[in-house]
Amino acid sequence: MTEPTPPAVTYGSYLKIEELLSLQQPRSAGPEHDEMLFIVIHQIYELWFKELLHEFDRVGQLLQRNESHRAQHTLKRILTILKVLVAQLDILETMTPLEFLSFRERLAAASGFQSDQFRQIEFVLGVKSDAALARFPERSRARMALADRYRQPTVWDAFLHYLSREGYAVSPAALHRDVTAPVSPDPEVQAILITVYRSDPKNAELCERLVDLDEGIQEWRYRHVKMVERTIGAKSGTGGSSGALYLRGTLGQNLFPDLWAIRGAL
Ligand code: HEM
Repeated sequence: MTEPTPPAVTYGSYLKIEELLSLQQPRSAGPEHDEMLFIVIHQIYELWFKELLHEFDRVGQLLQRNESHRAQHTLKRILTILKVLVAQLDILETMTPLEFLSFRERLAAASGFQSDQFRQIEFVLGVKSDAALARFPERSRARMALADRYRQPTVWDAFLHYLSREGYAVSPAALHRDVTAPVSPDPEVQAILITVYRSDPKNAELCERLVDLDEGIQEWRYRHVKMVERTIGAKSGTGGSSGALYLRGTLGQNLFPDLWAIRGAL
C-alpha cells in the first residue's frame, strides 16, 4: 500500500496563519476600536523579543568561537531590530489618552512589566535581578527560561573572554566575576579598551557595536517613558508601579560602563 501524500506546505500551514490570527482577543465590550492596535503591537514586540534572544545566543556562540566578524554581523541585525522596536512606539502614540482609557480598566494588573522575555533580554545584557526572577511562578516556562539566563554569562562576559583570547591581559577577576552581579566599572578593563581603540580597528568596531546596543536599549526606555507620560501622565501603572516615575528611574543607566568611561580618555 502506498503512503498517503502529506498535504503540500502552504504559506498558511507553514506560518500557522489560522492560529496566529486567532490570538487577538480584545477584552473590552464592543470591543473598543483601539484595543486591537494595543494587542497587536504587544504581540509583535514579544515576537521581536523572541528573535532578539535567538540572535543574542548567536552572538555569544560566535564570540566564543572567536568569529568576531560574524558576531558583528549578528549585532548589526540586533541593532536593526532595536530601531524597529523604537520606531513602533510612534504607532502606539497615535492612540490618544482617551482612546487608551476606553479599554484600560480591562487590562487589570496586566503590564509590559510582566514580560519575561524583556527581563530575559535585560539578563543577557547584565541587568539581572532576583526580584524579577521571583515574580514568575515556579516551574513556569517564564521562570525556567529566566533562571537559565540568570546563571548564564552576559554579553559583556562573552566579550571579555573574547578579548582575552585575542591576547589582551584581562584579569582573572574580570574573567571569573560573578555573572549574576551587575557589570561594574573596572579601571583595568578600561586601560585595555583604550589600547583596543587606539591600535586595534577590528575590535574597536566591535566595541562601537556594543555602544550602539547600549544606546539603543536606552533609547527604547526613553521613548517608552515619554509615550507613557503622554498617554497616562502621572497615573500609576497597571502593573502596580508609580508609572512614569518608576520608569524614569530606569533611564540613563549604562549597560557597559567601561565603554562609556574611556571616551573622555581617548
Ligand atoms: C499605551 C501604551 C503603554 C503604556 C501606557 C505603558 C505603561 C507602562 C507603565 C506605567 C509601566 C511601569 C510598570 C507598571 O506599573 O505597569 C510599563 C512598563 C513596561 N512596559 Fe509599558 N506601556 C505601554 C506600552 C508598552 C509596549 C507596547 C511595550 C512593549 C512590549 C511595553 C513594555 C513595557 C516593559 C518591558 C515594561 C517594564 C519596564 C521596566 O521595568 O524597566 N509597554 N509600561
